[in-house]
Amino acid sequence: MKIIVSGSSGLVGTALIDFLRHGGHSISRLVRSGSTVTADATSKMIRWEPPTGSLDLAAMEGADAVVNLAGASIAGGRWTEARKQVLRRSRVDTTRHLVTGLAQLKEKPHVLVSASAIGYYGSRGDEVLTEMSAPGSDFLAQLCRDWEAETAKAEREGIRTVILRFGVILTAHGGALQQMLRPFRLGVGGRLGNGCQWMSWITLKDVVALIQYAIENSSLRGPMNVVAPNAVTNAEFTSVLAATLHRPALFPAPRFALKMALGEMADALLASQRVIPEKLNGRGYTFLHPQLKAALQAILN
Ligand SMILES: NC(=O)c1ccc[n+]([C@@H]2O[C@H](COP(=O)([O-])OP(=O)(O)OC[C@H]3O[C@@H](n4cnc5c(N)ncnc54)[C@H](OP(=O)(O)O)[C@@H]3O)[C@@H](O)[C@H]2O)c1
Repeated sequence: MKIIVSGSSGLVGTALIDFLRHGGHSISRLVRSGSTVTADATSKMIRWEPPTGSLDLAAMEGADAVVNLAGASIAGGRWTEARKQVLRRSRVDTTRHLVTGLAQLKEKPHVLVSASAIGYYGSRGDEVLTEMSAPGSDFLAQLCRDWEAETAKAEREGIRTVILRFGVILTAHGGALQQMLRPFRLGVGGRLGNGCQWMSWITLKDVVALIQYAIENSSLRGPMNVVAPNAVTNAEFTSVLAATLHRPALFPAPRFALKMALGEMADALLASQRVIPEKLNGRGYTFLHPQLKAALQAILN
């Protein structure tokens, strides 16, 4: 298949491209000016400028699938008003430009697979959340709603559209787990806040396999929770991580300290999201890593 990927230099994009290449697919990467991505023998580069919407449409013709992973890092700095604008524009405006471009193609792709996040649901205590649950109302929830609304416009253009509501993606090579590893390895890790908040996680290996599944399964469309079937509380996550690393977990990070250090961004760390992958469960999907203990052992050992 011919597959175009945006945000391809990121955590998910890098792993996805590797995975798809091994599957024999032909890959084109959407590359912004100033990007450090360089041409190589196995993938083409297509120039785009998300802020202006400029996109090389001729180079986009005839692709089978587009995977949209672009977005400035949520953890890339305190959420000042200016930073919030960057987070919004890099997702909502970028996706609008991409979908507008796809709509103009003579040969449109069969499918658009586009990122979102379980931040869509806001913080919901012990409530079990499925794809049918109502959205939340905090900054991230509103961002995800607007982002998904731009993505969904591709359906009106006759492009099958799958929206991936990612949970916390686990890999040793980046993201939340990599940030946690240093304090835990030094023996100064611990739970966040009171540790009662639910964490819905998924391994990076399951994520890339699921993106391929979304591309290939023509009956799949709309939002899909991309989380393992067994969410855990932060306290449980902390104790399983510490046990996997053979380290203690004695130093909780109190809520007020996180709020002081991170401002509003701390809300994302402390949010409780007990999400289940109902759509995937309904299809009998088999996860590579459904249980946290085995997942962390596979990642870290
Ligand atoms: N990792 C997680 O745990 C997680 C959880 C929930 C949701 N998500 C979402 O899933 C998507 C992929 O995640 P990821 O972990 O791979 O993210 P990532 O490592 O931060 O990569 C995102 C990529 O987006 C592009 N990008 C950065 N700033 C941009 C901007 N201002 N405008 C347009 N594009 C920009 C960059 O790729 P190029 O330089 O190649 O353009 C970057 O490598 C993101 O949208 C993220 O919010 C991730």
